[in-house]
Amino acid sequence: MEIRVIADDITKVKADAVIVNHFEGVDKLDGDISAVDKALGGAISQLVSQGEIKGKLNEVTIVHSLGKLPADRVVVAGLGKPADLTVNKIRGAVAETCRQLRQKGVATIATSPLGAGINNISPESSAQAIAEGALLGLYAFRKHITREENKFGEIKQLLIVGSARIKSALEGGSHKGRVIAEATNLARDMINEPANFMTPTDMAEMAKKLAEAHGLEVSILDKEQMVELGMGALLGVARGSQQPPKFIILNYRGSDSAELNIALVGKGITFDSGGISLKPAEKMEEMKGDKAGGAAVMAAMSAIAQLKPKINVTAIVPATENLPDGNAYKPGDILKAMSGKTIEVVSTDAEGRLILADALGYARKLGAKFIVDVATLTGACRVALGDICTGAFANNQDLANRVLSAGNEAGEYIWQMPMFDEYKEQNKSDVADIKNTGGRWGGAITAAKFLAEFAEDTPWVHLDIAGTSMTEKERTYTVKGATGVAVRTLINLALSLAQ
Ligand code: BES
Ligand code: MN
Ligand code: ZN
Repeated sequence: MEIRVIADDITKVKADAVIVNHFEGVDKLDGDISAVDKALGGAISQLVSQGEIKGKLNEVTIVHSLGKLPADRVVVAGLGKPADLTVNKIRGAVAETCRQLRQKGVATIATSPLGAGINNISPESSAQAIAEGALLGLYAFRKHITREENKFGEIKQLLIVGSARIKSALEGGSHKGRVIAEATNLARDMINEPANFMTPTDMAEMAKKLAEAHGLEVSILDKEQMVELGMGALLGVARGSQQPPKFIILNYRGSDSAELNIALVGKGITFDSGGISLKPAEKMEEMKGDKAGGAAVMAAMSAIAQLKPKINVTAIVPATENLPDGNAYKPGDILKAMSGKTIEVVSTDAEGRLILADALGYARKLGAKFIVDVATLTGACRVALGDICTGAFANNQDLANRVLSAGNEAGEYIWQMPMFDEYKEQNKSDVADIKNTGGRWGGAITAAKFLAEFAEDTPWVHLDIAGTSMTEKERTYTVKGATGVAVRTLINLALSLAQ
Protein backbone atom coordinates (compact mmCIF):
# COMPACT_ATOMS: atom_id res chain seq x y z
CA MET A 1 0.00 0.00 0.00
CA GLU A 2 1.27 3.43 -0.95
CA ILE A 3 0.90 6.07 1.77
CA ARG A 4 1.31 9.68 0.70
CA VAL A 5 0.71 13.08 2.22
CA ILE A 6 -0.90 15.77 0.10
CA ALA A 7 -1.63 19.40 0.88
CA ASP A 8 -5.19 19.78 -0.28
CA ASP A 9 -8.78 20.22 0.80
CA ILE A 10 -10.54 16.97 1.72
CA THR A 11 -13.60 18.03 -0.33
CA LYS A 12 -11.46 18.25 -3.48
CA VAL A 13 -9.72 14.89 -3.33
CA LYS A 14 -10.58 12.11 -5.72
CA ALA A 15 -10.61 8.67 -4.08
CA ASP A 16 -12.92 5.68 -3.61
CA ALA A 17 -13.48 6.91 -0.05
CA VAL A 18 -12.55 9.86 2.16
CA ILE A 19 -12.40 9.39 5.93
CA VAL A 20 -13.36 12.11 8.40
CA ASN A 21 -13.77 11.78 12.15
CA HIS A 22 -16.68 12.29 14.50
CA PHE A 23 -16.77 12.32 18.30
CA GLU A 24 -19.31 10.99 20.73
CA GLY A 25 -21.45 13.66 22.36
CA VAL A 26 -20.58 16.33 19.79
CA ASP A 27 -23.52 17.60 17.75
CA LYS A 28 -21.97 20.67 16.19
CA LEU A 29 -19.79 19.53 13.30
CA ASP A 30 -16.62 21.40 12.50
CA GLY A 31 -13.44 21.07 10.47
CA ASP A 32 -13.22 18.46 7.71
CA ILE A 33 -16.45 16.65 8.61
CA SER A 34 -18.35 19.90 8.40
CA ALA A 35 -16.81 20.78 5.01
CA VAL A 36 -17.76 17.38 3.66
CA ASP A 37 -21.23 17.66 5.19
CA LYS A 38 -21.82 20.97 3.39
CA ALA A 39 -20.78 19.45 0.07
CA LEU A 40 -23.25 16.62 0.67
CA GLY A 41 -26.02 19.07 1.37
CA GLY A 42 -26.20 18.29 5.10
CA ALA A 43 -26.53 14.51 4.75
CA ILE A 44 -24.08 13.82 7.57
CA SER A 45 -25.49 16.33 10.04
CA GLN A 46 -28.88 14.77 9.38
CA LEU A 47 -27.57 11.30 10.24
CA VAL A 48 -25.97 12.75 13.36
CA SER A 49 -29.15 14.44 14.52
CA GLN A 50 -31.17 11.29 13.79
CA GLY A 51 -28.75 9.38 16.00
CA GLU A 52 -27.52 7.05 13.29
CA ILE A 53 -23.98 8.42 13.56
CA LYS A 54 -23.07 8.49 17.24
CA GLY A 55 -19.31 8.92 17.05
CA LYS A 56 -18.75 5.90 19.28
CA LEU A 57 -15.22 4.51 19.17
CA ASN A 58 -14.66 2.27 16.13
CA GLU A 59 -18.10 3.08 14.66
CA VAL A 60 -17.84 3.19 10.86
CA THR A 61 -20.54 4.83 8.71
CA ILE A 62 -20.30 4.84 4.93
CA VAL A 63 -22.24 7.50 3.03
CA HIS A 64 -22.27 7.59 -0.79
CA SER A 65 -21.54 11.00 -2.26
CA LEU A 66 -23.62 10.44 -5.44
CA GLY A 67 -21.49 12.84 -7.44
CA LYS A 68 -21.58 15.68 -4.91
CA LEU A 69 -17.89 15.19 -4.16
CA PRO A 70 -14.97 13.97 -6.29
CA ALA A 71 -14.72 11.04 -3.85
CA ASP A 72 -17.26 8.21 -4.21
CA ARG A 73 -17.84 7.70 -0.49
CA VAL A 74 -17.54 9.61 2.75
CA VAL A 75 -16.65 7.46 5.72
CA VAL A 76 -17.30 8.78 9.19
CA ALA A 77 -14.96 7.14 11.69
CA GLY A 78 -16.11 7.34 15.31
CA LEU A 79 -13.34 8.23 17.75
CA GLY A 80 -15.33 8.13 21.01
CA LYS A 81 -15.41 10.94 23.57
CA PRO A 82 -12.89 13.67 22.77
CA ALA A 83 -11.62 13.74 26.36
CA ASP A 84 -10.74 10.02 26.17
CA LEU A 85 -8.96 10.15 22.82
CA THR A 86 -5.46 8.61 22.58
CA VAL A 87 -3.23 7.85 19.59
CA ASN A 88 -3.84 4.19 20.25
CA LYS A 89 -7.58 4.72 19.69
CA ILE A 90 -6.82 6.45 16.39
CA ARG A 91 -4.69 3.44 15.36
CA GLY A 92 -7.53 1.10 16.21
CA ALA A 93 -10.28 3.12 14.52
CA VAL A 94 -8.24 3.46 11.33
CA ALA A 95 -7.63 -0.30 11.31
CA GLU A 96 -11.33 -1.10 11.70
CA THR A 97 -12.29 1.45 9.05
CA CYS A 98 -9.73 0.23 6.53
CA ARG A 99 -10.77 -3.41 6.98
CA GLN A 100 -14.42 -2.53 6.35
CA LEU A 101 -13.49 -0.55 3.25
CA ARG A 102 -11.37 -3.40 1.93
CA GLN A 103 -14.39 -5.65 2.33
CA LYS A 104 -16.34 -3.24 0.11
CA GLY A 105 -13.69 -3.42 -2.59
CA VAL A 106 -12.36 0.08 -1.99
CA ALA A 107 -8.87 0.55 -3.46
CA THR A 108 -7.99 4.19 -2.80
CA ILE A 109 -8.60 6.10 0.42
CA ALA A 110 -7.99 9.66 1.50
CA THR A 111 -8.18 10.65 5.14
CA SER A 112 -8.02 13.83 7.13
CA PRO A 113 -5.50 13.84 10.04
CA LEU A 114 -7.92 12.07 12.38
CA GLY A 115 -7.97 13.26 15.97
CA ALA A 116 -5.26 15.88 15.42
CA GLY A 117 -5.67 18.84 17.75
CA ILE A 118 -7.68 16.89 20.32
CA ASN A 119 -6.01 16.08 23.69
CA ASN A 120 -2.70 17.54 22.50
CA ILE A 121 -2.46 15.00 19.68
CA SER A 122 -0.21 16.56 17.05
CA PRO A 123 -0.74 16.21 13.28
CA GLU A 124 2.52 14.21 13.28
CA SER A 125 1.35 11.63 15.81
CA SER A 126 -2.03 11.42 14.09
CA ALA A 127 -0.31 10.65 10.78
CA GLN A 128 1.89 8.06 12.48
CA ALA A 129 -1.16 6.41 14.04
CA ILE A 130 -2.98 6.43 10.70
CA ALA A 131 -0.09 4.74 8.90
CA GLU A 132 0.31 2.18 11.68
CA GLY A 133 -3.39 1.50 12.03
CA ALA A 134 -3.86 0.96 8.30
CA LEU A 135 -0.80 -1.23 7.74
CA LEU A 136 -1.27 -3.29 10.90
CA GLY A 137 -5.05 -3.65 10.56
CA LEU A 138 -4.90 -4.74 6.92
CA TYR A 139 -2.22 -7.34 7.59
CA ALA A 140 -3.00 -10.88 6.47
CA PHE A 141 -0.80 -13.97 6.26
CA ARG A 142 -1.94 -15.57 3.03
CA LYS A 143 1.34 -16.71 1.59
CA HIS A 144 0.43 -20.39 1.58
CA ILE A 145 -3.16 -20.04 0.36
CA THR A 146 -3.57 -20.92 -3.30
CA ARG A 147 -7.39 -20.80 -3.50
CA GLU A 148 -8.26 -17.90 -5.77
CA GLU A 149 -11.76 -17.23 -4.39
CA ASN A 150 -10.39 -16.32 -0.99
CA LYS A 151 -8.28 -13.47 -2.26
CA PHE A 152 -9.86 -10.30 -1.00
CA GLY A 153 -9.33 -6.89 -2.51
CA GLU A 154 -6.41 -4.72 -1.69
CA ILE A 155 -6.24 -1.11 -0.62
CA LYS A 156 -3.61 0.31 -2.91
CA GLN A 157 -3.34 3.91 -1.81
CA LEU A 158 -3.85 5.91 1.36
CA LEU A 159 -3.61 9.68 1.09
CA ILE A 160 -3.28 11.76 4.24
CA VAL A 161 -4.75 15.14 3.42
CA GLY A 162 -3.93 18.29 5.38
CA SER A 163 -3.09 21.93 4.95
CA ALA A 164 0.30 22.96 3.49
CA ARG A 165 1.27 24.26 6.95
CA ILE A 166 1.32 20.77 8.48
CA LYS A 167 2.43 18.83 5.43
CA SER A 168 5.97 18.13 6.59
CA ALA A 169 4.76 17.11 10.07
CA LEU A 170 2.32 14.69 8.45
CA GLU A 171 5.11 13.32 6.28
CA GLY A 172 7.42 12.78 9.24
CA GLY A 173 4.70 10.98 11.17
CA SER A 174 3.56 8.80 8.32
CA HIS A 175 7.14 7.76 7.48
CA LYS A 176 7.82 6.77 11.08
CA GLY A 177 4.50 4.93 11.26
CA ARG A 178 5.24 3.02 8.08
CA VAL A 179 8.70 1.92 9.24
CA ILE A 180 7.34 0.78 12.61
CA ALA A 181 4.30 -1.01 11.17
CA GLU A 182 6.33 -2.76 8.48
CA ALA A 183 8.73 -4.02 11.12
CA THR A 184 5.78 -5.32 13.15
CA ASN A 185 4.35 -7.06 10.10
CA LEU A 186 7.75 -8.57 9.36
CA ALA A 187 7.75 -10.10 12.84
CA ARG A 188 4.19 -11.35 12.25
CA ASP A 189 5.28 -13.01 9.01
CA MET A 190 8.18 -14.76 10.72
CA ILE A 191 5.99 -15.95 13.59
CA ASN A 192 3.06 -17.10 11.43
CA GLU A 193 5.43 -19.06 9.22
CA PRO A 194 5.24 -22.74 10.23
CA ALA A 195 8.28 -24.60 11.56
CA ASN A 196 8.98 -26.25 8.20
CA PHE A 197 9.36 -22.82 6.62
CA MET A 198 11.12 -21.04 9.48
CA THR A 199 13.88 -23.24 10.86
CA PRO A 200 16.81 -21.83 12.86
CA THR A 201 18.70 -21.71 9.54
CA ASP A 202 15.85 -19.76 7.93
CA MET A 203 15.90 -17.30 10.83
CA ALA A 204 19.63 -16.83 10.31
CA GLU A 205 19.05 -16.27 6.58
CA MET A 206 16.41 -13.69 7.45
CA ALA A 207 18.93 -11.93 9.71
CA LYS A 208 21.40 -11.79 6.82
CA LYS A 209 18.72 -10.41 4.53
CA LEU A 210 17.79 -7.68 7.02
CA ALA A 211 21.45 -6.81 7.54
CA GLU A 212 21.93 -6.49 3.80
CA ALA A 213 18.78 -4.41 3.31
CA HIS A 214 19.33 -1.99 6.19
CA GLY A 215 23.09 -1.86 6.70
CA LEU A 216 23.35 -3.85 9.93
CA GLU A 217 26.31 -6.04 10.92
CA VAL A 218 25.36 -9.67 11.22
CA SER A 219 27.11 -12.73 12.56
CA ILE A 220 25.75 -16.23 12.87
CA LEU A 221 27.45 -18.60 15.28
CA ASP A 222 27.18 -22.27 14.45
CA LYS A 223 27.28 -25.28 16.75
CA GLU A 224 31.08 -25.51 16.88
CA GLN A 225 31.36 -21.88 17.97
CA MET A 226 28.69 -22.48 20.61
CA VAL A 227 30.74 -25.40 21.91
CA GLU A 228 33.82 -23.18 22.04
CA LEU A 229 31.92 -20.52 23.98
CA GLY A 230 30.63 -23.13 26.41
CA MET A 231 26.94 -22.63 25.65
CA GLY A 232 25.98 -25.92 27.25
CA ALA A 233 22.40 -24.90 28.03
CA LEU A 234 21.52 -23.92 24.45
CA LEU A 235 23.37 -26.97 23.09
CA GLY A 236 21.47 -29.22 25.48
CA VAL A 237 18.13 -28.04 24.08
CA ALA A 238 19.37 -28.33 20.48
CA ARG A 239 20.41 -31.98 20.86
CA GLY A 240 16.96 -33.37 20.09
CA SER A 241 16.69 -31.64 16.72
CA GLN A 242 18.01 -32.55 13.28
CA GLN A 243 18.08 -28.84 12.45
CA PRO A 244 21.38 -27.19 13.36
CA PRO A 245 21.01 -24.47 16.02
CA LYS A 246 21.99 -20.92 15.10
CA PHE A 247 23.07 -18.09 17.37
CA ILE A 248 22.11 -14.89 15.59
CA ILE A 249 23.70 -11.52 16.30
CA LEU A 250 22.58 -8.30 14.58
CA ASN A 251 24.44 -5.14 15.34
CA TYR A 252 23.38 -1.51 14.85
CA ARG A 253 25.83 1.31 15.46
CA GLY A 254 24.23 4.72 15.82
CA SER A 255 26.72 6.19 18.26
CA ASP A 256 30.44 6.86 17.85
CA SER A 257 31.21 5.42 21.25
CA ALA A 258 32.34 1.81 21.36
CA GLU A 259 29.94 1.13 24.23
CA LEU A 260 27.08 -1.31 23.61
CA ASN A 261 24.10 0.57 25.01
CA ILE A 262 21.50 -2.11 24.87
CA ALA A 263 21.21 -5.77 23.97
CA LEU A 264 17.81 -7.06 22.82
CA VAL A 265 17.61 -10.79 23.41
CA GLY A 266 14.81 -12.86 21.84
CA LYS A 267 13.79 -16.49 22.37
CA GLY A 268 14.05 -18.27 19.04
CA ILE A 269 12.50 -21.70 19.52
CA THR A 270 11.22 -22.39 16.01
CA PHE A 271 9.10 -25.25 17.33
CA ASP A 272 8.50 -26.30 20.92
CA SER A 273 7.20 -29.85 21.21
CA GLY A 274 8.29 -29.91 24.85
CA GLY A 275 11.05 -32.40 24.03
CA ILE A 276 11.09 -35.61 26.11
CA SER A 277 8.69 -33.82 28.49
CA LEU A 278 6.35 -33.89 25.50
CA LYS A 279 3.46 -31.45 25.33
CA PRO A 280 -0.12 -32.69 24.77
CA ALA A 281 -1.06 -32.90 21.06
CA GLU A 282 -3.95 -30.48 21.38
CA LYS A 283 -2.93 -26.97 20.24
CA MET A 284 0.68 -28.07 19.81
CA GLU A 285 0.64 -26.35 16.41
CA GLU A 286 0.61 -23.03 18.29
CA MET A 287 4.18 -23.77 19.28
CA LYS A 288 5.42 -22.62 15.88
CA GLY A 289 4.96 -19.25 17.59
CA ASP A 290 7.68 -19.94 20.16
CA LYS A 291 10.12 -17.87 18.10
CA ALA A 292 8.04 -14.70 18.63
CA GLY A 293 10.62 -13.07 20.91
CA GLY A 294 13.42 -13.70 18.43
CA ALA A 295 11.31 -12.43 15.56
CA ALA A 296 10.42 -9.32 17.57
CA VAL A 297 14.01 -8.32 18.31
CA MET A 298 15.11 -8.95 14.72
CA ALA A 299 12.20 -6.94 13.33
CA ALA A 300 12.81 -4.11 15.80
CA MET A 301 16.41 -3.91 14.52
CA SER A 302 15.18 -3.39 10.97
CA ALA A 303 13.19 -0.34 12.11
CA ILE A 304 15.96 0.95 14.37
CA ALA A 305 18.35 0.81 11.39
CA GLN A 306 15.94 3.01 9.41
CA LEU A 307 15.06 5.48 12.19
CA LYS A 308 18.74 5.82 13.17
CA PRO A 309 18.76 6.71 16.88
CA LYS A 310 22.19 7.76 18.23
CA ILE A 311 22.77 4.63 20.25
CA ASN A 312 24.37 1.20 19.78
CA VAL A 313 21.98 -1.76 19.81
CA THR A 314 22.65 -5.47 19.41
CA ALA A 315 20.00 -8.13 18.90
CA ILE A 316 20.79 -11.66 20.03
CA VAL A 317 18.66 -14.64 19.07
CA PRO A 318 19.48 -18.17 20.20
CA ALA A 319 17.57 -20.29 17.68
CA THR A 320 16.80 -24.01 17.84
CA GLU A 321 13.96 -26.49 17.80
CA ASN A 322 12.93 -28.38 20.94
CA LEU A 323 12.17 -31.95 19.91
CA PRO A 324 12.32 -35.44 21.42
CA ASP A 325 14.84 -37.80 19.85
CA GLY A 326 17.22 -40.60 20.82
CA ASN A 327 19.87 -37.95 21.25
CA ALA A 328 17.63 -35.42 23.02
CA TYR A 329 18.42 -34.02 26.45
CA LYS A 330 16.46 -35.63 29.25
CA PRO A 331 14.84 -34.70 32.54
CA GLY A 332 17.50 -35.08 35.19
CA ASP A 333 20.36 -34.04 32.89
CA ILE A 334 22.71 -31.38 34.19
CA LEU A 335 23.86 -28.69 31.77
CA LYS A 336 26.60 -26.10 32.20
CA ALA A 337 25.74 -22.62 30.92
CA MET A 338 28.24 -20.22 29.37
CA SER A 339 28.49 -18.32 32.69
CA GLY A 340 29.74 -21.50 34.38
CA LYS A 341 26.55 -22.11 36.37
CA THR A 342 25.18 -25.67 36.33
CA ILE A 343 21.49 -26.34 35.69
CA GLU A 344 19.44 -29.41 36.57
CA VAL A 345 16.87 -30.09 33.85
CA VAL A 346 13.62 -31.01 35.57
CA SER A 347 11.49 -30.47 32.46
CA THR A 348 12.78 -30.39 28.91
CA ASP A 349 9.74 -28.21 28.20
CA ALA A 350 11.27 -25.38 30.22
CA GLU A 351 13.72 -24.91 27.34
CA GLY A 352 13.28 -21.16 26.81
CA ARG A 353 15.05 -20.17 30.00
CA LEU A 354 17.92 -22.51 29.09
CA ILE A 355 18.66 -20.98 25.71
CA LEU A 356 18.16 -17.50 27.19
CA ALA A 357 20.65 -18.27 29.97
CA ASP A 358 23.38 -18.53 27.33
CA ALA A 359 22.11 -15.57 25.33
CA LEU A 360 22.13 -13.40 28.47
CA GLY A 361 25.63 -14.67 29.23
CA TYR A 362 26.69 -13.67 25.74
CA ALA A 363 25.10 -10.20 26.04
CA ARG A 364 27.02 -9.66 29.28
CA LYS A 365 30.23 -10.80 27.63
CA LEU A 366 29.66 -8.15 24.94
CA GLY A 367 29.49 -5.62 27.77
CA ALA A 368 25.85 -4.58 27.28
CA LYS A 369 24.89 -1.69 29.54
CA PHE A 370 21.21 -2.71 29.50
CA ILE A 371 19.52 -5.95 28.47
CA VAL A 372 15.89 -6.47 27.50
CA ASP A 373 14.80 -9.99 26.66
CA VAL A 374 11.55 -10.96 24.96
CA ALA A 375 10.24 -14.51 25.19
CA THR A 376 7.14 -16.66 24.92
CA LEU A 377 8.36 -18.10 28.18
CA THR A 378 5.53 -19.44 30.32
CA GLY A 379 1.97 -20.68 30.09
CA ALA A 380 1.71 -19.25 33.62
CA CYS A 381 2.08 -15.71 32.30
CA ARG A 382 -0.71 -16.36 29.82
CA VAL A 383 -2.90 -17.64 32.66
CA ALA A 384 -2.11 -14.56 34.74
CA LEU A 385 -2.51 -11.79 32.15
CA GLY A 386 -4.33 -13.34 29.18
CA ASP A 387 -3.70 -12.01 25.70
CA ILE A 388 -4.08 -8.37 26.75
CA CYS A 389 -0.97 -7.68 28.79
CA THR A 390 2.68 -8.66 28.52
CA GLY A 391 4.39 -9.47 31.83
CA ALA A 392 7.49 -7.47 32.74
CA PHE A 393 10.11 -8.59 35.24
CA ALA A 394 13.12 -6.52 36.16
CA ASN A 395 16.21 -6.25 38.33
CA ASN A 396 16.35 -2.49 37.79
CA GLN A 397 13.39 -0.15 38.25
CA ASP A 398 14.75 2.68 36.09
CA LEU A 399 15.03 0.42 33.08
CA ALA A 400 11.64 -1.12 33.89
CA ASN A 401 10.08 2.36 33.89
CA ARG A 402 11.60 3.12 30.52
CA VAL A 403 10.25 -0.10 29.06
CA LEU A 404 6.81 0.53 30.55
CA SER A 405 6.63 4.00 29.08
CA ALA A 406 7.90 2.81 25.68
CA GLY A 407 5.09 0.24 25.77
CA ASN A 408 2.56 2.84 26.78
CA GLU A 409 3.52 5.03 23.84
CA ALA A 410 3.12 2.04 21.52
CA GLY A 411 -0.28 1.11 22.97
CA GLU A 412 1.22 -2.25 23.99
CA TYR A 413 0.03 -3.08 27.49
CA ILE A 414 2.76 -4.23 29.86
CA TRP A 415 2.24 -5.11 33.51
CA GLN A 416 5.16 -5.35 35.89
CA MET A 417 5.23 -8.46 38.06
CA PRO A 418 6.93 -8.94 41.45
CA MET A 419 10.46 -10.27 41.83
CA PHE A 420 10.71 -10.86 45.59
CA ASP A 421 13.76 -12.91 46.50
CA GLU A 422 11.64 -15.47 48.32
CA TYR A 423 10.65 -16.87 44.88
CA LYS A 424 14.25 -17.99 44.35
CA GLU A 425 13.75 -20.79 46.82
CA GLN A 426 11.60 -22.70 44.31
CA ASN A 427 14.47 -22.90 41.80
CA LYS A 428 16.89 -24.57 44.26
CA SER A 429 18.37 -27.85 43.08
CA ASP A 430 19.87 -30.63 45.21
CA VAL A 431 22.36 -31.62 42.53
CA ALA A 432 23.22 -28.43 40.58
CA ASP A 433 23.43 -24.65 41.07
CA ILE A 434 19.84 -24.16 39.95
CA LYS A 435 16.99 -26.15 38.39
CA ASN A 436 14.97 -25.17 35.34
CA THR A 437 11.48 -25.29 36.85
CA GLY A 438 10.19 -23.80 40.06
CA GLY A 439 6.95 -25.79 40.33
CA ARG A 440 3.44 -24.83 39.47
CA TRP A 441 2.81 -21.73 41.55
CA GLY A 442 4.08 -18.39 40.37
CA GLY A 443 5.54 -20.06 37.27
CA ALA A 444 6.08 -16.84 35.32
CA ILE A 445 7.94 -15.31 38.26
CA THR A 446 10.16 -18.31 39.03
CA ALA A 447 11.08 -18.44 35.32
CA ALA A 448 12.07 -14.76 35.52
CA LYS A 449 14.00 -15.45 38.72
CA PHE A 450 15.89 -18.16 36.84
CA LEU A 451 16.82 -15.67 34.09
CA ALA A 452 17.86 -13.11 36.71
CA GLU A 453 20.66 -15.47 37.76
CA PHE A 454 22.13 -15.09 34.27
CA ALA A 455 21.50 -11.35 33.86
CA GLU A 456 23.48 -11.01 37.12
CA ASP A 457 24.24 -7.34 37.85
CA THR A 458 23.42 -5.96 34.39
CA PRO A 459 20.25 -3.81 34.43
CA TRP A 460 17.74 -6.10 32.77
CA VAL A 461 14.06 -6.39 31.92
CA HIS A 462 12.38 -9.61 30.83
CA LEU A 463 9.15 -9.44 28.81
CA ASP A 464 7.07 -12.63 28.88
CA ILE A 465 4.90 -12.51 25.75
CA ALA A 466 3.49 -16.08 25.97
CA GLY A 467 -0.02 -14.63 26.26
CA THR A 468 0.23 -11.65 23.94
CA SER A 469 2.22 -12.98 20.97
CA MET A 470 -0.76 -14.69 19.36
CA THR A 471 -4.43 -13.85 19.32
CA GLU A 472 -7.47 -15.90 18.43
CA LYS A 473 -9.61 -13.00 17.34
CA GLU A 474 -9.40 -9.79 15.42
CA ARG A 475 -9.14 -6.75 17.69
CA THR A 476 -8.60 -3.25 16.28
CA TYR A 477 -5.15 -3.34 14.67
CA THR A 478 -4.32 -6.92 15.56
CA VAL A 479 -5.64 -9.78 13.46
CA LYS A 480 -5.89 -13.48 14.16
CA GLY A 481 -2.48 -15.13 14.53
CA ALA A 482 0.78 -13.45 15.42
CA THR A 483 0.45 -9.93 16.85
CA GLY A 484 4.07 -8.82 16.49
CA VAL A 485 3.90 -7.67 20.10
CA ALA A 486 6.98 -6.00 21.62
CA VAL A 487 8.38 -4.81 18.28
CA ARG A 488 6.91 -1.33 18.68
CA THR A 489 7.86 -1.15 22.36
CA LEU A 490 11.47 -2.06 21.58
CA ILE A 491 11.71 0.54 18.81
CA ASN A 492 10.33 3.24 21.12
CA LEU A 493 12.74 2.13 23.83
CA ALA A 494 15.75 2.47 21.54
CA LEU A 495 14.55 5.91 20.40
CA SER A 496 14.00 7.05 23.98
CA LEU A 497 17.36 5.74 25.25
CA ALA A 498 19.07 7.72 22.49
CA GLN A 499 17.71 11.02 23.81
N1 BES B 1 6.87 -22.08 24.97
C1 BES B 1 6.33 -22.49 26.20
C2 BES B 1 5.42 -21.44 26.84
C3 BES B 1 4.18 -21.06 26.11
C4 BES B 1 2.97 -21.62 26.47
C5 BES B 1 4.18 -20.12 25.11
C6 BES B 1 1.81 -21.26 25.81
C7 BES B 1 3.04 -19.74 24.45
C8 BES B 1 1.84 -20.32 24.79
C9 BES B 1 7.47 -22.79 27.17
O1 BES B 1 8.62 -23.29 26.60
C10 BES B 1 6.97 -23.84 28.10
O2 BES B 1 6.70 -24.91 27.65
N2 BES B 1 6.87 -23.49 29.37
C11 BES B 1 6.41 -24.41 30.36
C12 BES B 1 7.31 -24.29 31.57
C13 BES B 1 7.07 -25.35 32.60
C14 BES B 1 7.49 -26.70 32.07
C15 BES B 1 7.88 -24.99 33.82
C16 BES B 1 4.97 -24.04 30.70
O3 BES B 1 4.67 -22.86 30.77
O4 BES B 1 4.17 -24.95 30.88
MN1 MN C 1 8.53 -25.39 26.34
ZN1 ZN D 1 8.97 -22.80 24.67
